Amino acid sequence: MKLIYTLRGLVNYLFYRWIVRPIIFLWEAEEAHNKLKQFGLLFTSNPMGKRILSALFYYQHKSLNTVVDGIKYDNPIGLSAGFDKDGELADVYPLIGFGFAELGSFTGYVCPGNPGVGRRLFRLVKSKSILVWYGLNNQGAEVISRRLKDKKFKIPIGISAAKTNNSTSFDLQDSIDDYLKTVRDFKDIGSYYTINISCPNTQDGEPFVDQKNLNTLLSALDEVKQESKPVYVKLAADLEEGEINTIVDTCLMHKIDGLVLTNLTKPSMNNEYLKEELVFDKGALSGLPVQRISTNIVRHVYQRTHGKITIIGVGGVFNAADAYEKITSGANLIEMITGLIFEGPQVVGEINRGLVSLLKKDGFNSIEEAVGSRNPLL
Ligand SMILES: Cc1cc2nc3c(=O)[nH]c(=O)nc-3n(C[C@H](O)[C@H](O)[C@H](O)COP(=O)(O)O)c2cc1C
Repeated sequence: MKLIYTLRGLVNYLFYRWIVRPIIFLWEAEEAHNKLKQFGLLFTSNPMGKRILSALFYYQHKSLNTVVDGIKYDNPIGLSAGFDKDGELADVYPLIGFGFAELGSFTGYVCPGNPGVGRRLFRLVKSKSILVWYGLNNQGAEVISRRLKDKKFKIPIGISAAKTNNSTSFDLQDSIDDYLKTVRDFKDIGSYYTINISCPNTQDGEPFVDQKNLNTLLSALDEVKQESKPVYVKLAADLEEGEINTIVDTCLMHKIDGLVLTNLTKPSMNNEYLKEELVFDKGALSGLPVQRISTNIVRHVYQRTHGKITIIGVGGVFNAADAYEKITSGANLIEMITGLIFEGPQVVGEINRGLVSLLKKDGFNSIEEAVGSRNPLL
């Protein structure tokens, strides 16, 4: 069986790298993103397409099963927020082997995102990164939650909530109401919430990095939180250590269940990409430039919280070693987008297969045992 999986992975990899990716990369990145979603929908609209996807990509192993905040995951590799902004493809992710998927970010109201539709994503191929200037485009919580209301999901689904990006001025109460609207609209949908306070592409900045604002937001959330549904907060990549500590401590005070670490990095604050590949003066970077920063933040937050709250590690995961580094640094779960685009859909199964070997090599029987193992608590 091992040989079959190895051959399948290799054939899929070569097919993606030499045939599929060169075609996809001919399109503008935003156009390619939309086409891929349409293709995913078409492929999974019939049972044959579903069977093909799962035969090509699906992989599972019992050592990957994990329980986090009472939620059972078949494996720790999830899709990060931002790929499926309107929550349309939830049936596709389990077929290609994801253990969970975070949909959104959804905003309280319809949000067209930043101007320049069709030119809001740029690939930095040598830097293994994507410059993102979307600005939270989505159909809004009402429409999306109505569509997903009675849907049965095959894997845990995270609901990422952000504030509608429609104004340069910041109003605290309006912003909080906006988040709460999404939380309420998705009351019966999905397994957990992520409160995204770290979109780098919004007109009014990141006002919830401010402790007083965050405190007010989390107090309001306390009122609507459901016992059965964990709430996580997603942090920016480019924060100072003091800012991280303040946010983490505020989250702990409000008994937030976990943190998603991290969002995109701003090019002006990052040196881990090739400057000549940057062809647009707005937006923020995903992929390799976030890898090291997010892992360092995972390490720091794991220590700061004494390993007591959930950490979802995200940023620059392209293979099993990248995922394992975040897990052994303290992450309970892993999310990714850029690795999927650059390496192809087989990467999910390959990461999971690699994790099984890495766990075995270190003498661990489960993901839980590996979490934080190379970042012993002081
Ligand atoms: C095209 C794109 C859109 C994104 N949109 C969102 C979003 O709506 N909400 C969010 O929390 N993060 C968003 N992100 C950030 C990702 O969720 C993730 O934190 C970041 O890309 C780092 O992971 P990666 O290196 O695996 O891509 C987006 C990323 C990309 C590439």
